[in-house]
Amino acid sequence: MRVVRTEGEMTRLSLVWRDRGLRVGFVPTMGALHAGHLSLVDAARETCDRVVVSIFVNPTQFGKNEDLSKYPRDLQGDCRLLEERGVSAVFAPDNDVIYPEGFSTTVSVSGVSSGLCGEYRPGHFQGVATVCAVLFGIVRPHAAVFGMKDAQQLAVIRRMVRDLRLEPEIIAAPIVREHDGLAMSSRNAYLSPEERRQAPAISRGLNKVRMLRLNGEMDPAVLKAGFLSEVEPMNLLKVQYVEVVDHLTMAPLEKVTDKALMAVAVYAGATRLIDNIIIEPEA
Ligand code: PAJ
Repeated sequence: MRVVRTEGEMTRLSLVWRDRGLRVGFVPTMGALHAGHLSLVDAARETCDRVVVSIFVNPTQFGKNEDLSKYPRDLQGDCRLLEERGVSAVFAPDNDVIYPEGFSTTVSVSGVSSGLCGEYRPGHFQGVATVCAVLFGIVRPHAAVFGMKDAQQLAVIRRMVRDLRLEPEIIAAPIVREHDGLAMSSRNAYLSPEERRQAPAISRGLNKVRMLRLNGEMDPAVLKAGFLSEVEPMNLLKVQYVEVVDHLTMAPLEKVTDKALMAVAVYAGATRLIDNIIIEPEA
């Protein structure tokens, strides 16, 4: 496995593979890898001959009061996991490789970026879309894999790729969870034991909503109340938002008839956790 630090080496490597007719898959990450990230690598390997994983904690997607400086970093540990998983190259650029002097472009995807996390993290999806556009330009993948854990991010990237006619096919990978249902996240490491004990109420709430929907419930207010009934009794959990939206456009729904997405953000103490579930009329 190659660990690549420069743009030139990364692009050359990818172009050599492409010239040989190999399909290049790409998994962008911010490191501190867990089984959720590794499942994305597996999904890439299913359809691709070579897999590149980027590890870059992107400053432009963090707000002023967010956790950029304390975001967990462990490049060596991450590389070990990726090598075992059959990754061909890790792209781990420094900040000035991605944002060299004079960098002036931002990619702003309207519509899907508003509401949900977009409302509480202004500028976040601009940072995400911009860095992904830059990474796609450097890595030149045929396909890129994103987790459904970040459902709004996935929708933003799909929209950007379609609008800008970028090359990679976007592949969505399902949410990987701990045994008690908590969605895996690098931020789970911040939870105190008591916060960690209460956090699975989030996925329990989402499952309850799935059952309500399977039983025919169509009213978003009733579905939201179903979620809250699991989470509100937990004294360390504070709901930031709970919404039922169209699963592609992220637009709020007045009545749930088709496939929809329930997306939530919940603070466990000072740690912000997000989760979501696709709800459908039939299993
Ligand atoms: P990061 O939070 O490191 O996540 C990298 C990828 O892993 C994302 O596509 C995310 O949805 C996926 N992922 C995280 N937890 C997951 C889980 N439990 N199950 C399935 N997939 C999971 O998302 C980012 O980084 C950044 O915004 C990035 C796209 C790299 C741009 O900087």
